[in-house]
Amino acid sequence: NDHLDALLKKMKSAASPLRDMLKQLHAEFKDNHDGTVASYIPELAKANPDWFGISLVSIDGQAVDVGDSNQQFTIQSVSKAFMFGMAIEDHGRDHVLSKIGVQPIGEAFNSITLDEATNRPFNPMINAGAIAAADLIHGKDFPERVARMLKMFSTYCGRQVYVDNTVYHSEKKTGHRNRAIANLMLNFGMISEQLDDTLDLYFQQCSILVTSHDLAMMGATLANGGVNPVTGERAISAEYVKDVLAVMHTCGMYDYAGEWAFRVGIPAKSGVGGGIVSVVPGEVGIGTFSPRLDAKGNSVRGIQFYKALAEKYGLHAF
Ligand code: DON
Repeated sequence: NDHLDALLKKMKSAASPLRDMLKQLHAEFKDNHDGTVASYIPELAKANPDWFGISLVSIDGQAVDVGDSNQQFTIQSVSKAFMFGMAIEDHGRDHVLSKIGVQPIGEAFNSITLDEATNRPFNPMINAGAIAAADLIHGKDFPERVARMLKMFSTYCGRQVYVDNTVYHSEKKTGHRNRAIANLMLNFGMISEQLDDTLDLYFQQCSILVTSHDLAMMGATLANGGVNPVTGERAISAEYVKDVLAVMHTCGMYDYAGEWAFRVGIPAKSGVGGGIVSVVPGEVGIGTFSPRLDAKGNSVRGIQFYKALAEKYGLHAF
């Protein structure tokens, strides 16, 4: 990562070559109108398809933002990686792994399949595994579980984050498939009977409002061993950061994960709101936001941007 390293060092100067490079890539892909905004959650269809934000935050807290980096959108599945980390903090690896696998699945994010040998959802990045992770979040009652979840995301972002209630209710009202998945897991004893609360927690975590800057900050926190580089607050124990990055690397982009690992080569997580977070460990967090999605539910311009960035600046882990 020689090129990126050099650029990161120069981030502070006003005429930052990194900013110029990001502006150039933003301009290059701005006019690509491929893909469609998610509409299966009705409220998401209201997003302006042209929004396009790109942000980088380095582990020393320097930020570069271009385009619509202040535009808020719901975090959606990007939240799953961070909730998996929290579930491990609450229960330890062995217990969490007894409920959720870490195996990539060549199926869509809303797959109803469980691993027949163990009844576990295949991994924490698909909806089934994320609902199982939400079930594991501690708290004496539902409000406390929500409060702990919001505090965790706020620590990653370095600011207080909130749930978009309209999106939350839209998801709750139309989330029959997620409810079916949760019932299937309850049938197999893979989640507890607090199913309605757990689904509400899952719908709320997906409805948290963030910006591309927030995603970059969250990525930078993971890149920085779990400590937010601006506030200095720890969001996750250092020992569990690699667990989160490993599942992002193998499963974060769903049935595109293998191709992503091949072409881009850094751990990442996408969401149907149009966000993608990624992490270059020890260096930088990157966040992109563009709501038009491909058939697999990943942001079209986000993927294009990362591919170009990886080609030009050798982001690849290997
Ligand atoms: O449960 C759902 O379907 C959404 N709340 C999250 C799905 C998602 O973001 C998939 N990502 N690309």
